[in-house]
Order: sequence, then structure tokens, then C-alpha cells
Amino acid sequence: MTSIGSNLDKVLVTERDVWEDGPPHELFRELRAHCPVHWTSRITEYPEEAGFWSVTTADDVHAVSRDWQTYSSERGGVTAATAGFPLELLRAMFIGMDPPKHDRIKALFQAGFTPKRIAAHEPEIRAIVTDVLDRLEGRDECDLVTDVAQPVVSRVIGSFMGIPPEDDAVWANLMNSTLGAGDPDLNPAGIPGVLEKDIPEIFERCRVMIADRREHPTDDLTSVLVHAEIDGQKLEEHEIVMGFFLLVAAGNDSTKATYCSAMQALMQHPDQRRILLDDPSLVPSAVEESLRMFPAFAHFRRTATCDTELNGTQIKEGDKVVMWYVSSDRDETRYSEPDRFDVRRNPEHQAFGAGGRHFCLGTALARLELVILLEETLKRYPEMQIAGAMKRVESPFLNQLKTLPVRLSP
Ligand code: HEM
Repeated sequence: MTSIGSNLDKVLVTERDVWEDGPPHELFRELRAHCPVHWTSRITEYPEEAGFWSVTTADDVHAVSRDWQTYSSERGGVTAATAGFPLELLRAMFIGMDPPKHDRIKALFQAGFTPKRIAAHEPEIRAIVTDVLDRLEGRDECDLVTDVAQPVVSRVIGSFMGIPPEDDAVWANLMNSTLGAGDPDLNPAGIPGVLEKDIPEIFERCRVMIADRREHPTDDLTSVLVHAEIDGQKLEEHEIVMGFFLLVAAGNDSTKATYCSAMQALMQHPDQRRILLDDPSLVPSAVEESLRMFPAFAHFRRTATCDTELNGTQIKEGDKVVMWYVSSDRDETRYSEPDRFDVRRNPEHQAFGAGGRHFCLGTALARLELVILLEETLKRYPEMQIAGAMKRVESPFLNQLKTLPVRLSP
């Protein structure tokens, strides 16, 4: 990894080698201590992309997240590098919009995602989880990412969107390759493959679903998008497609990431797993600790709409400003021993965003899925062990494993 310390100002935070072993926690620790708002001058892999500011402390991430007037989601994209995804499409998702349009579209979904409404789905989510675990009967080993996490999260979001179960795997692959565009396993065809194959396929598949919902309205979320009216106007076709994409992508990806990171940590810390096995009422606390220590999205980004100052650093209009949740969630001014995995900690954190307008829509759903996944997995396989080399997605955005081989019972 790039040498740090006195060279802090020369560090390029998103270079591939810096992320080889996962988030560079040591680097972020130094940045929080010595250069909390740090400038990276370039992204070598995408030479046409501008550099960016890294925001690393919890207080500063909170300040950026809350101030949408100064830090826009619409102006330049929501990730450090945006080469892999056309800006026009990004802006058709409400994650890539600013108020007021953002608020109006998000409001269409908010009522369905409250903790109370989501809690009503518990029986069906538990049935999905137990069904997937049933398929492991008779096996000694499996891959927790592909055999457990992926089919569960795909079916849960698929049932919300009205996707037929036989299409879950197709959608999961499309989401994995577009979100993990820089990873050679998830997306062997590279960025051109996303632009030439995946995005057209997403549009084509959505077109069929949209036409069907126009004819036959249902109570799924795809129908909500198709029939939505914002200021008396229906959404345009590409806005419906991208609204669908946002929900399926968010639902597919991050819960899978957090479950696998949590299971990895529990297998690596048998003392912590013992605590949960002895007192399963601590599972929700373990979920929060896993969200904190392993935020599924390492960062989200904003673009400055005017010259401004953040924690004593001058930021210019048009500059990219990256909020590093993997750093803010280990901020030592908020957490004692931030690198220690402690299932009793039950922390507040910024894994779902830092309190601004774009705060995750799916928090209640993700929390419920994670609690059920951990409960059911621990109940069936209390002595599960890591059984081979784990591989991480190569990305400074997706903080997740792409394979986690396990032995189910000793
Ligand atoms: C562990 C699981 C999850 C994590 C860690 C997570 C994290 C996040 C983060 C960090 C953001 C952006 C915050 C920002 O830029 O300020 C976000 C936004 C969003 N998430 Fe999640 N998410 C998770 C699960 C879900 C699920 C299951 C859904 C299901 C629908 C979902 C839907 C969304 C949507 C629609 C947005 C955009 C919100 C907006 O722009 O206003 N997320 N999520």
C-alpha cells in the first residue's frame, strides 16, 4: 500500500492497491488524526475523472450529509468515480436527485418502508430464509455469499417489486455486474460491458414489466412507479426503469454484504458468537455492530454547489466531496476501541447515511432481514467454520465479500 505518515498529502485514496485487503483502516485512522478533509488529486484507473475530497470524521460526514444545498447529489453523481454509469441515468434515480423532486419521489415509497409496515413482512421473510437454508440439507460445505445471502436478498426485494422467483438470479447478476463494474469476477466484460450489454438488458426487461403493470396494476412497487404522479405528471419511462433499478440494486446488494461480513466476524471471534448463542436477544445489537464495522457502502459522494469551507478546508464549487462511512464509523471520538467487534455494543452509526435527505429508505427492511438471517443461521449451524479463502469485491465503493466458503458443521 502507498506509504502513509509524512506522505499523507500525496496519498491517492481510491487506488486499487490501497483497497486490496479491504478498506484501508490504518490510512483512514491517520487521515482522521492529521488531515480529516483530504485531497486526492486523481483516480489513476479513470484518468478523465477529477480528484476528490475525502471526508473522514463522523461530525464532518454528518455536516455534509445534512447540507444538501451546498453538497448536491444531482450535480455530479454519487460515487467517487462515475465513469461506469451515464450521469443522465443516475439523475433519473432519486438517489441522484436533489429536493424538491427527490423528496416527492421518495415519499411515494416511505409509507411502505416504516418499521411497522416492514414488521408485517416478518413471516414471509423468515419463510424465505428457512427455505434457502433447507436447500443446504445434506451438504457439508457451501458458499455463504452465493448459496445463502444472494438468494435470500434477491427473493425478498423481488417479492416487493413483483419479480417472478425464476428471474431472481438474472436480476442479481445484472445488479452485481453494474454495481461491481470494476471487479473482474463480477463484471468480466468491464465498463464497456455494462454500457453495451447490462444497461440495455435492464431497460428491455423493465419495459416488459412496465407494459404489464400499465395493463394490469398490482400492489407491488413496480406498479407504484408506473402509476406515480409527481406534480400532476407521470414519470418518464427511463425514470421508472431507474427507480426500479435503484430499489432492486439497493435491496440486492447491501444486506447481502452486511450478513456475510457479520458471519465472517462471528466465525473469526468465537467468543462473540458464544455470547449470541447464549443470549439470542442480542442479535439486533450484533446487527448494529456489524453495520458499523462493515458498512456495505464504503462511501457516497456529493458535489459542492458553491465555494465553501469544511472543518477549516476550502472547497471549491464543483469539487467532489466523498463521505467515507468506513472511516466515520470507526471514529475514535465516537467509539472506544473502534476496531473491536463487540456484539453487545449496539452502536449508532452512519452505515445507512448520516442523517441527511438521502438516508437509506430500506433501513427497517435491512435490519429485519439481517436479524432473521443471523438468528436462523446460528440456530441451524452454531459451529459453522470458515473453510477456504474468502475473496473481497475489488472496489472502493462496495465493501463486501464475493465468496465466503464455510463448513456447515464440524
Ligand atoms: C445493510 C443494508 C443497507 C445498507 C448498509 C444501506 C445503505 C445505504 C446508504 C449508505 C444510502 C445512501 C445514503 C446517502 O447517500 O446519504 C442508502 C440509500 C438508499 N437505500 Fe439503502 N442500504 C441498505 C439496504 C437497503 C435496502 C434493503 C433497500 C430496499 C429498498 C434500500 C434502499 C435504499 C434507497 C432507495 C436509497 C436511496 C435513498 C435516497 O436517495 O433518498 N437500502 N442506503
